[in-house]
Amino acid sequence: MAENTEGQFLEPRGEQVSEAQIAVHWREEGYVPPPAVFIGQANASDPAIFERFAEEAFPECFREYADLLTWDSYWHTTLDTSNAPFWRWFVGGRLNACYNCVDRHLATDRNKAALIWVPEPESADPVAITYQELYRRVNEFAALLRDFCGLQAGDRVTLHMPMVPELPVTMLACARLGVIHSQVFGGFSGGACGHRIADSGSRVLITMDGYYRGGELTDHKVKADEAIEAALRNGQEVDKVLVWRRHPGQYASRVPMAAGRDFFVDELLARYRDQVVPPVSMPAEAPLFIMYSSGTTGRPKGCQHSTGGYLAYVAGTSRYYQDIHRDDTYWCMADIGWITGHSYIVYGPLALGTTSVIYEGVPNYPDAGRPWRIAQRLGVTIFHTSPTAIRMLRKLGPEEPNKYDCHFKHMTTVGEPIEPEVWRWYHSVVGKGEAVIVDTWWQTENGGFLGATLPALQAMKPGSCGPGVLGIYPEILDEDGNEIKAGSGRAGNICIRNPWPGIFQTIWGDPERYLETYYRKYCKNPESKDWRDWPYFANDGAVQAADGYYRILGRVDDVINVAGHRLGTKEIESAALTVEEVAEAAAVPVIDELRGRVVEMYISLKPGVAPGKEIEGKVVTAIETEIGKIARPRTVWIVADMPKTRSGKIMRRVIASVSNFTDVGDVSTLANPEIVDDIRHHVQAQKAARGEVPRQLTPEEEAEIKAFGQAE
Ligand code: PRX
Repeated sequence: MAENTEGQFLEPRGEQVSEAQIAVHWREEGYVPPPAVFIGQANASDPAIFERFAEEAFPECFREYADLLTWDSYWHTTLDTSNAPFWRWFVGGRLNACYNCVDRHLATDRNKAALIWVPEPESADPVAITYQELYRRVNEFAALLRDFCGLQAGDRVTLHMPMVPELPVTMLACARLGVIHSQVFGGFSGGACGHRIADSGSRVLITMDGYYRGGELTDHKVKADEAIEAALRNGQEVDKVLVWRRHPGQYASRVPMAAGRDFFVDELLARYRDQVVPPVSMPAEAPLFIMYSSGTTGRPKGCQHSTGGYLAYVAGTSRYYQDIHRDDTYWCMADIGWITGHSYIVYGPLALGTTSVIYEGVPNYPDAGRPWRIAQRLGVTIFHTSPTAIRMLRKLGPEEPNKYDCHFKHMTTVGEPIEPEVWRWYHSVVGKGEAVIVDTWWQTENGGFLGATLPALQAMKPGSCGPGVLGIYPEILDEDGNEIKAGSGRAGNICIRNPWPGIFQTIWGDPERYLETYYRKYCKNPESKDWRDWPYFANDGAVQAADGYYRILGRVDDVINVAGHRLGTKEIESAALTVEEVAEAAAVPVIDELRGRVVEMYISLKPGVAPGKEIEGKVVTAIETEIGKIARPRTVWIVADMPKTRSGKIMRRVIASVSNFTDVGDVSTLANPEIVDDIRHHVQAQKAARGEVPRQLTPEEEAEIKAFGQAE
């Protein structure tokens, strides 16, 4: 390992560089070694593992991951690159994901908890579901999907479910049949769900009537009706809506059930009691699920994940990076509606036969001690969450973890960069200095981790995710494709030189967009069948320190990362443009101490329309309706005009700089430079009056704001 560079400042370079290469200087943090107790029990504690996964061993090194699974027939080709960059892993192999996550554990662990579900109301006890019980429930629901809905391998089904055990039951039942599930985050609006139903071509929607959030039983079924209308407007008819009930036998929603279309699952299931459905043996390359994510253009991308490659990758990374053992009690506080939940609540942990905890509600309900009470009660050994949750829990209850007898061996963070100061609180207060922290960098498209420290073998460094994980060889490239060397102090675009089993297969229904977004930029030869010619462009900026550790700076496309959730500016803007009075709309990120980034909206109005609070309210409602509360802008600023280039392009970086109180740069070449001062005075005066002036931005943050909106 390279020398500890604590205290060293990397000097910024004076030369002219593009936005993605803006010189970055930061104080290098010191290494923190893993505790000896952790090393003693770790799944990966022999450095020989690095040789097994060295580049010379690629792609066969990934046999080690695939061998964690039970195959119906073994594969003949580990990696087929003949249709690069549409990679095919474990070709010729057949398996069933549900069998691997459930059936195969029955022989040894039938009576062990597969899932422990913690309802949000604290008066309700946790519910443990054994592997045997999970097997029963999954089989019954699979019988219902097959016989009542007529679903078969290759069909798509949209799920819009909250954090209840019925969600993994539904996913696994789909997987048992080879049906491709597309779970839409429960917090998304009906409209957003409807677009995804249409894009995936689902004719069945599976939802729940309501769920607890922040102390309230929300009405969720109402969103199903909106989703179906939105899907229909986009050309997709849904013929069945299956409604799980939060309290079976009692209906929590105010909207009626549509006769002949909507069905209560608890009523239907009575017909399928004790039925057993044989798992369908699927080719390794058959799609397992679709997960939608935001990108530069308005339409969300349906990331299509495979069965064999994906499951092998999440099982392998869960074993070595999450250090999951069969007797761990593992709790990932993410939502299953995001990729983290798919990979590291459901598929990875269950493939390894461990106990995975699912919590229904918000982390601070009824107070900031809740997560630590849950961990104490269940004896959680591995805890996994996002920097936003850590920041929030720290702000609301900095001393809370000390009040509880909870002891983690391992704590994960994911989704956003974590500030070293927040990292240290996580380490010393939440982890009581006893746990390793693994900062995992990756994306919806990737299936599993790309950058992280191997916990027993690589020291932690606050603020850096670590080097590429086993079998992943990253590089940082400048705009022209030249490599930016480790330790240069310069940022660039982080790319992965090689394919890996967890990578998505394509964008559902849009292979051209897959090529365009991730591979065209740095492809060395479009005819090539050699993976070395196809670096994967992650759309993230990063810097690599001399020791090989990466520090991820954030997106280089027009995506705003709010509390670890990826929101496309174009999606938010299109929602605002559905308001009749709005002529133009621009969404920009604002640095926020708790949520990382929040959205601010700028709109200009059609001629003759008078500005007013009512229009601002309409814009907020439109965004909540089209996308969900998560995209709610902090403020809607009505401006006389947007700063624009001579060709009419809105300069988002200029308004983003205004919103963040940072220098707007040279605006003299704009078509309407005078508008910038007007906007600045208006916006900054109001923000100052409300006490919303942010602290001085770090150089990385400033670089991000200045580059914002340049991806088009
Ligand atoms: O910008 C990176 C950031 O989140 C993006 C991926 O978002 P999503 O597809 O929603 O997946 C989130 C969970 C895997 C990345 O492009 N990001 C993710 N993890 C980290 C991160 N930024 C810094 N550090 C991380 N550990």
